[in-house]
Amino acid sequence: MDLPSFIWLWRIAAWSMGLSLAVYLGLLLTGSSVWYVRSHQKSQPGWLRFIHLLLGGALVALVLLLLSIGIIGTLGEHGNLGHSWHLGAGLLVVSLVLASMGAATQIASRPWARSLHVVLNALLFVAFAAVSYSGWTVVQQYLP
Ligand code: HEM
Ligand code: HEM
Repeated sequence: MDLPSFIWLWRIAAWSMGLSLAVYLGLLLTGSSVWYVRSHQKSQPGWLRFIHLLLGGALVALVLLLLSIGIIGTLGEHGNLGHSWHLGAGLLVVSLVLASMGAATQIASRPWARSLHVVLNALLFVAFAAVSYSGWTVVQQYLP
């Protein structure tokens, strides 16, 4: 396949990434509210937790979409994977999001899962920065 035909794919990647970052901020806001309400022993409004879960599901979907775009695009272009450290950064982001979701499902029954959830999400912030930087660097190679 010729190079420019792949630009649209990376354009979807860039937009999905912007959306992911917005969703991440939404999770940070709703998660912090959940924490604030809980630590002040007020009753938890159900919609707050619901929005947090909804956004969480959206983040998992977006990150899996980005992973498939990255793998399909790279295979279509080079026929193999592992052209830069963007691969490692991408796999790290996906692992952290899935682990964070796994920890979230345990919060109700195991109290330590709550702090694990928060630590994983802090690491996720750094991983997001790394994947955006390396992704942007690699996109330059496709631009005319
Ligand atoms: C991967 C998707 C995510 C899912 C499925 C998820 C789910 C949950 C669940 C079920 C809780 C417990 C709510 C409760 O106690 O009623 C929670 C708490 C929380 N989440 Fe998430 N979450 C996700 C991502 C995130 C992200 C990306 C952040 C931060 C940027 C975040 C920050 C928080 C915080 C601060 C709390 C409150 C912890 C506390 O009460 O001490 N979450 N999340
Ligand atoms: C959660 C976010 C992301 C994930 C999980 C992800 C995942 C991946 C993966 C696994 C690859 C294959 C890399 C290889 O085998 O060398 C890839 C390739 C690629 N990704 Fe991403 N990516 C993400 C975000 C981005 C962003 C924000 C951009 C920039 C707009 C981007 C642009 C690219 C490009 C241009 C390639 C082709 C690499 C090459 O030709 O060497 N990605 N991505």
